[in-house]
Amino acid sequence: MNVVIAIDGPAGAGKSTVAKRIADALSYFYIDSGSLFRAITFKVIQSGLDMNDINGIIKLAENSTIDFSNNKVFLDSIDVNSKIRSAIVNSNVSHIAKISEVRDIIADIQRNIALKKNVVVEGRDIGTTIFPNAAFKFFLVASVEERARRRLLELNSSGSNYSLEEVMEQISKRDIIDSNRAVSPLRKAEDAIIIDTDGKCIDDVVNEILFNIKSFN
Ligand code: DC
Repeated sequence: MNVVIAIDGPAGAGKSTVAKRIADALSYFYIDSGSLFRAITFKVIQSGLDMNDINGIIKLAENSTIDFSNNKVFLDSIDVNSKIRSAIVNSNVSHIAKISEVRDIIADIQRNIALKKNVVVEGRDIGTTIFPNAAFKFFLVASVEERARRRLLELNSSGSNYSLEEVMEQISKRDIIDSNRAVSPLRKAEDAIIIDTDGKCIDDVVNEILFNIKSFN
């Protein structure tokens, strides 16, 4: 049985950087589940489909291949890693993530990888729905302001020019949609360990998680 380490939490809590570092430290495969939702969202936008055309979106998702290679996402064999982080994808991805059929397709992709490899998986529903029997579960949290500050750096370094207030508003809206959707809402698994990342550097968070993992072995 392969080992699964689940890292959940809201947008901007630091999951990606931390999950990648944990995967590197343990030589596990890193799965960024958000990038799977982003890749489908990107394809929907590219195809010109209406965001309300649920059947069309499901068909499009069924006819897509999404893979990871060198921590990058490939959609239908094309590297879309930077394209899926755009503001337009940011503002539409929560709508795609509400569609249960799309979630099922994305769940299968993740479970198939974990059949072959030890994995660190980051997302919103990893410890609750995708891998409820994961060996280790962590739930990262941070204040909206701290998360917005981190997202702002990421967005503005790729050429955008947002204010902190705008990003705080986007993050709060996404939190509400992600936490209140009917299928697999953002929720801490009962057996997940909460890691508050406010005011902590990446190294501290990574070490806290590795310490927890090692103390269970
Ligand atoms: O982690 P992220 O910001 O890249 O995620 C993008 C969106 O995908 C996020 O708004 C919610 C959704 N998502 C989800 O519903 N379930 C996951 N396991 C991961 C992401």
